[in-house]
Amino acid sequence: MPSNVIVGLQWGDEGKGKITDLLSKNSDYVIRYQGGNNSGHSIHVKNHYFILHLIPSGVIYSNVKCIVGPGVVVDPKSFLKEIQDLESMNIDTSKVFLAKRAHVTMPYHRFLDQYKEEVLADQSIGTTHRGIGPTYEDKTARMGIRVLDFLNLKKFYQKLKYNIDFKNEIITKVYKKKPIVFESVYEEYIEYAKVLSNRIIDAVHEIHDAFHNQKKILFEGAQAMLLDINYGTYPYVTTSSTSTGGVCIGSGIPPNFLGNFIGIAKAYCTRVGFGPFPTEIKSKIGDIIRQKGNEYGATTKRPRRCGWLDLIALKYSCMINGINCLIITKLDILSELKVIKVCVEYKYNGKEIKHFPANIEKNMKGVYIDFPGWKKNISHIREYKDLPENCKKYIKFIEDYLNLEVLLISVGSERNQNIIKNKDSFFKIFS
Ligand code: IMO
Ligand code: MG
Repeated sequence: MPSNVIVGLQWGDEGKGKITDLLSKNSDYVIRYQGGNNSGHSIHVKNHYFILHLIPSGVIYSNVKCIVGPGVVVDPKSFLKEIQDLESMNIDTSKVFLAKRAHVTMPYHRFLDQYKEEVLADQSIGTTHRGIGPTYEDKTARMGIRVLDFLNLKKFYQKLKYNIDFKNEIITKVYKKKPIVFESVYEEYIEYAKVLSNRIIDAVHEIHDAFHNQKKILFEGAQAMLLDINYGTYPYVTTSSTSTGGVCIGSGIPPNFLGNFIGIAKAYCTRVGFGPFPTEIKSKIGDIIRQKGNEYGATTKRPRRCGWLDLIALKYSCMINGINCLIITKLDILSELKVIKVCVEYKYNGKEIKHFPANIEKNMKGVYIDFPGWKKNISHIREYKDLPENCKKYIKFIEDYLNLEVLLISVGSERNQNIIKNKDSFFKIFS
């Protein structure tokens, strides 16, 4: 049975958590393949609100096995806090596992992330300060500590000592900050190692066995396409491969395990942190969208920059990810607006740009088509035919531009606030 992948198609916070939760109901496994606790996936079930950072969004269902995959970077402190928070809300976390090959985010990664951002000042990326970049840097520098090192404390001791000695050179000499005290980090982390040991698995073999036993597997992306290290708006990106290509790298599976590539896009755009954003709205309308859409970072609480839907970027994302199922979220947030704009090309130095470029220049501006708003609450609607005509026109335009049918539209944060547009396709894929 082919496995499915969920990816965000913009700059993150498209509602991947909600959709993963929704589609997890019929899954046996939900697997995170990249990123770390820089992500914030929100799930709203009745009166309960959950925010997940590292744990896959399938955790809310007790029958789903959740794996923090080999391509993820794990901050054990943050992971254990999330486990505790979930358990305090009566969520069973006994089926949450960590891949042996995942890398561990250590306190020095968090410090180095923050110090570098401070030094970069107005050139900074606006990271989440969670140490994600430095953890992946150590991975590629072949000096990272992996989750499996928690199972051999002698080795862990040696690796940690080597790393802290090395990092202290940088921390004290380059950044002129206080050194890290090895003993206190070691003491703290061997406690985490003890608590985590029964969750550590060889995820690669587990995933392959599950696949061959016809289990339903859903891969959950974190961050999103335009933050991809290779194909995003570099250098204003995160440090992992967020696109569907990253699933194989981050889970140890071959591409032919994958069947459906589910892309999630908001009906508008947001971005947290710095970097180019051609459709950013600088007027009051941006504030209205931010308020109505609660566009504040789930991880850092930073206000998100808001902008119009960018179809140039979205087409590129669908292309890179091979999207065959499109989901549009937060359509209800646009309900108050008189006019809704959609970007269909960029203008740069008087030239028209129709393809998403490798570099977005500062003064590259969006060219828009205006759509009349529908000025009606749509959050209670569950059938596509009941949507206002102007709303349907907006969706149809997106579909035509992308040459892709929308499968589902989310009209509210609650698990059931959805319109399944194409029921046949939806149930074929997800039942
Ligand atoms: P979810 O999974 C939105 C952004 C940061 C920054 C850049 C690099 O909730 O969509 P990092 O800490 O990763 O080195 O920061 O990436 N960023 C996100 N933006 N949603 C996220 O996750 C993000 N994770 C990282 O704001 O611009
Ligand atoms: Mg988020």
